[in-house]
Amino acid sequence: MNVCRTPEELRAALAGRPGPHAMVPTMGALHAGHTSLMERARARARTVSASVFVNPHQFNEQSDYAAYPRSEAADLEAMEAAGVDVAYVPDEPAVWGGEIPDLSRWEIPGITDQLEGAWRPRHLPAVASVVDRLFDQALPDLSMFGEKDYQQLLMIRRHAAARTPPIEIVPAPVVREADGLALSSRNQLLDAQARRQAARLPEILEGVVAEAGGGGEPAAAAGRAETELAAAGFEVDYVTVRRADDLAEPAAGDRELVALAAARAGGVRLLDAMPFRPPA
Ligand code: PAF
Repeated sequence: MNVCRTPEELRAALAGRPGPHAMVPTMGALHAGHTSLMERARARARTVSASVFVNPHQFNEQSDYAAYPRSEAADLEAMEAAGVDVAYVPDEPAVWGGEIPDLSRWEIPGITDQLEGAWRPRHLPAVASVVDRLFDQALPDLSMFGEKDYQQLLMIRRHAAARTPPIEIVPAPVVREADGLALSSRNQLLDAQARRQAARLPEILEGVVAEAGGGGEPAAAAGRAETELAAAGFEVDYVTVRRADDLAEPAAGDRELVALAAARAGGVRLLDAMPFRPPA
């Protein structure tokens, strides 16, 4: 595996490699969710690159950026084991070159201004801008993103489709611990009590899917889940059911929905997403 730290090294490492080229952008602290994306990339592409870059612009609080787990040596080993050909591990100047990204151009009304967009202003446009920069540097044909960060996935898919040439965005299902908790680099920040509590999040969200998927009123199911999460000790940002392709409120007859939740356990913010189909 080639390890590159600058756009020039990346271009040189990718030059002459066979296509298609799939890229997996990450912020490191890799877990089985990330390596499943790399394995999917390996199955679809003849060249696989993956990046590790903790983008400072997508954190709303400096303390959250500082606390974000970093483990480069272990990440490089995990990438190699997952079949990555080219690892891109740039520093801030290599990605941004001193530039402060203009986040306003990355907003998508209806996608970036609600849910995560309401709770973490600037976060989604900052993700879009860094992914676009990484795509500009690596020029992949396709790229893999997990469904746990569901809004991120929809937003990146829209931006990637508008590029010339477009980049195909391949969604991947959430990878979970045995007790259902969605894998996330942030899970390692949970203390023992918060970790036990965290398992209630997917359990309660599954209740929403069962109720709304069984013909129940989605908003009522989500409201009950918020109450249950609060009773279990979470600070709840939102639980909601939306249309899977555009995050609009669901209407009767919509066939592809997604249950979304964001809540804090022991001060650690957890996200979960469960796409589902209600009965016809
Ligand atoms: O999902 C992530 O890890 C990050 O938001 C991403 C897509 C790598 C951009 O920094």
